[in-house]
Amino acid sequence: MASELPPGLRVALERELTGVSRRDLAGRAAATSRAYRSGRGSAGVIRGRDDALAYALTRLPATFAACAAAFGEAQARAPGFAPASLLDAGCGPGGGTWAAREVWPSIARVDWLDASTPFLDLAQRLSAGTFEARITRGDLGATAPSATALSAADLVLASYALAEVAPAQQLQVIDRLWDATLGLLVLAEPGTPAGYARILAARDALLARGANLLAPCAHAAPCPLAAPDWCHFAVRLPRSRDHKAAKGVDAPFEDEPYAYLVAARPGVAGGPAPARVLAQPRAGKPGIDLKLCTPDGLERRFVPRRDKAAHAVARRLDWGDAL
Ligand SMILES: C[S@@+](CC[C@H](N)C(=O)[O-])C[C@H]1O[C@@H](n2cnc3c(N)ncnc32)[C@H](O)[C@@H]1O
Repeated sequence: MASELPPGLRVALERELTGVSRRDLAGRAAATSRAYRSGRGSAGVIRGRDDALAYALTRLPATFAACAAAFGEAQARAPGFAPASLLDAGCGPGGGTWAAREVWPSIARVDWLDASTPFLDLAQRLSAGTFEARITRGDLGATAPSATALSAADLVLASYALAEVAPAQQLQVIDRLWDATLGLLVLAEPGTPAGYARILAARDALLARGANLLAPCAHAAPCPLAAPDWCHFAVRLPRSRDHKAAKGVDAPFEDEPYAYLVAARPGVAGGPAPARVLAQPRAGKPGIDLKLCTPDGLERRFVPRRDKAAHAVARRLDWGDAL
């Protein structure tokens, strides 16, 4: 799955950047990333149009790439799934929706829910002329019995959004997202121990509600990883000239660590991979070391060079791949 932004989104971003001071944008990008890192949520970070634009320039490419990678796995595990509707909950500037449309051109109806007006406005401007979305400005964490139900959709996405929901509300939010899910629910979070912990809690809650896990787990048994280990992956994405300038860096790419979960309603045909590669394979002269998640738990598998057929397969494996 390509982690490059689709041409329509690149052009729309360039249009937004026209006439905007790059120096101001770089200052905002640094300030917003400092604020996010210190634990503040978007409500306290994204105050207006230019903050939203700084996010779109410096963070959207990475969250797009993480979503694209998670969707690629979802598609591989449920190849017949062709969603007609998408709910992107906590959509921000809408990068996850663009990634979903790349993987599933069948998506004809898009719903966006977000608490942030600057993000929703930017998401609308970026998608103008390419696709339309129904917009709800609202609180994902609204749990009062009177709270309006989320719009049901074949595919429901919450990317990098759970992190901003108060810990005490996160499982209720998972319940709401699952209630809205007709087919697949995809969660993506930063690839940090805290992001993994949120995914793990969501995993338990979704299993208790009868979900089938499609990825990344190879089974529905308890996660075999023990602290300080945590399940996460990384995706490499290209940086545009403006992206590099906004971050004040030279490298033409960056690696985004992410954690994710794909949960399916029982009616969706598909299943988990027999095993998943949990770390970068280590190739040496005698052979290749693999760290695998399997239905029997965590497995370290050594594939000797002399086993030519198995070695040829192992050589092509990457961190995150299904076996
Ligand atoms: C870090 S941004 C991620 C945006 C986008 N999903 C992405 O992957 O780039 C988190 C988003 O969640 C939204 N959000 C956080 N808490 C929310 C809540 N309680 N209700 C609705 N939206 C919320 C924020 O406004 C923001 O757009």
